[in-house]
Amino acid sequence: MSEILDTQVGAVRYLSFNRPAKMNALTRDMYAGLAHGLNEAAGDFGVRAVVITSEGDHFTAGNDIMDFMDNPPTSDSSEVGTFLAALLNFPKPLIAAVKGNAVGVGTTMLLHCDVVVAAPSANFSMPFASLGLVPEAGSTFLFPALVGYQRAARIFMTGESFGAEAAMEMGLVSEISSDALNAASKIAAQIAEQPPQAIINTKALLKARQHDSVAAVMRAEFEIFAMALQSDEAMGAFMKFMAKKGSS
Ligand code: COA
Repeated sequence: MSEILDTQVGAVRYLSFNRPAKMNALTRDMYAGLAHGLNEAAGDFGVRAVVITSEGDHFTAGNDIMDFMDNPPTSDSSEVGTFLAALLNFPKPLIAAVKGNAVGVGTTMLLHCDVVVAAPSANFSMPFASLGLVPEAGSTFLFPALVGYQRAARIFMTGESFGAEAAMEMGLVSEISSDALNAASKIAAQIAEQPPQAIINTKALLKARQHDSVAAVMRAEFEIFAMALQSDEAMGAFMKFMAKKGSS
C-alpha cells in the first residue's frame, strides 16, 4: 500500500499521508509521492482542486527523523526540495484538512495552502530550533507575514505548540470542523464548480506579490538547514528522540 494515497472524486484530487503507525512522519519516498501527485494534478485538466489530508488520527509528525539522519536532504534537488518547489508553484486551489499533530513541515506546508480546515484535535508546532535546525518551506517569511514578527519569533524560538482556536485566530486556518475532511471536501467541490481559468488566475494574482520572495527565502533556508542537519546540535536532538523511543 502506498504511503501517499492519491484518489479523485469528481474534479477534486486527494493526496493523503498514509503512514499512521509512524504518525505519518514523512520519508523521502513520501515527499517524492507528494511532489509527483501535485505536479500531475497541476497538468491534469480534470483536476480543479487538491485536498491534502491524512489517514489515522494525525496530520503528520513532520520529517521522519531516521530519514534525516540516514539521508539528509542537502540540495534543493532532493525529494524535500522537489516537494517544496511543487508546493510553491502549485497553480490550482490547495486545501488542507488537519487533525491531530501537525509538526514541522506539517505546519509550514499549510502556509502555502489556499484554505485550511482544522479539526478541534489539531495541534500545530514548528520545533525546528529545538531540533538544532531552522524553519523551512519559506516559513521564516510567510509565518511572520501572517502573524507578526514577535509572535512568529516566539513560536519558532520556544518550539511551543498551539491548537485549532489559536490557529484560527492567527489566520492559519479558516474553519474548525469536527469533520475537517468533509468540510474541506465541500469547499473544494464548491471551488471546483467555478470557472477554472478564473480560479487559476485569481490564485496567481493572490500569490504574485510574495512568490519570488518566498522562493529566495526557501533557497536560503535550505542552505542553512542542510548545514544544520550535520551539526552537533541536530545530532544531539535526533539521538534524544531515538533514546526516548528505545526507552518506551
Ligand atoms: N520521525 C520518525 N518517527 C516518528 C516521528 C518522526 N518525526 N514522529 C513520530 N514517529 C513515530 C514514533 O517513533 C512512534 O513509532 P514507534 O511506535 O515505532 O516507536 C510513532 O511514530 C508514534 O510516535 P510517539 O512518539 O510514540 O507518539 P507520542 O504521542 O508519544 O508523541 C510527538 C508525539 C509528535 C510529540 C513525537 O512523536 C515527536 O516528538 N515526534 C517527532 C516530531 C519531530 O520532531 N518532527 C520533525 C520536525 S522537523
